[in-house]
Amino acid sequence: MRDLDQFEAIAGRRRAVRAFLPRPVDRALIARAIAIAATAPSSCNTQPWTLHIASGAALDRLRTALTEAVSSGRPPAYEVEAADRYEGPFRERQIDAAVRLFEAQGVGRYNTAARAQSMLRNFAFFGAPHAAFLFIPAGGGLREAADCSKFAQTFMLALAAAGLGSCPQGALSGYPAVVRQALRLGSETGKLLLGISFGYPDDDDPTARVRPPRCPTQDITRFHDD
Ligand SMILES: Cc1cc2nc3c(=O)[nH]c(=O)nc-3n(C[C@H](O)[C@H](O)[C@H](O)COP(=O)(O)O)c2cc1C
Repeated sequence: MRDLDQFEAIAGRRRAVRAFLPRPVDRALIARAIAIAATAPSSCNTQPWTLHIASGAALDRLRTALTEAVSSGRPPAYEVEAADRYEGPFRERQIDAAVRLFEAQGVGRYNTAARAQSMLRNFAFFGAPHAAFLFIPAGGGLREAADCSKFAQTFMLALAAAGLGSCPQGALSGYPAVVRQALRLGSETGKLLLGISFGYPDDDDPTARVRPPRCPTQDITRFHDD
């Protein structure tokens, strides 16, 4: 069970990191995490994922362009279906996670300006030195998005195992035109599914203590034996 214990520790260590140190990650380490991520299963082994990683000047360019776009009120334009409003228990969990984050940041729940500032930190990559942008093929749909998400999770677990942090960000997928222009990509990249900021976590930041709880396994599982 030693492997399982280790895996449990790594999975438990992964969290959505929303404050990073500026220290860049070694390129070989990033490449290793990508190779590990690529072990993820996919339908018929189609591997419907590509990623573009922005660092240095490219990331600076992107941060400026995204922050400008969002601050000027440009609405998001998702290439992969945007989520509808959550309902019932899903809405409750969404609010609970947001309240925990705002409380850690000292942001009052009804302080609209401070909440907007907090949201804007998404587009500064929470101070991370790298951001990965995951694309599915142009003709891809639910199946490809699900496969690419497995890649994403394996990537984030690999980073966690290396002592790195990451934040998956749907917010970053709302501005594919800005991402393409800043990274000088063509439309052949397919559809932008997800952005992931990553780097060394700033464990002293108050947001590091935010740990949204999970439902007990008995609430999400039924065993059928007869
Ligand atoms: C597909 C996806 C999109 C997400 N988008 C964002 C985002 O735009 N901004 C953000 O701060 N967190 C985002 N998150 C992080 C979730 O809020 C976080 O995973 C959840 O609250 C559980 O917390 P944990 O990852 O720390 O366990 C996203 C997570 C996923 C899986």
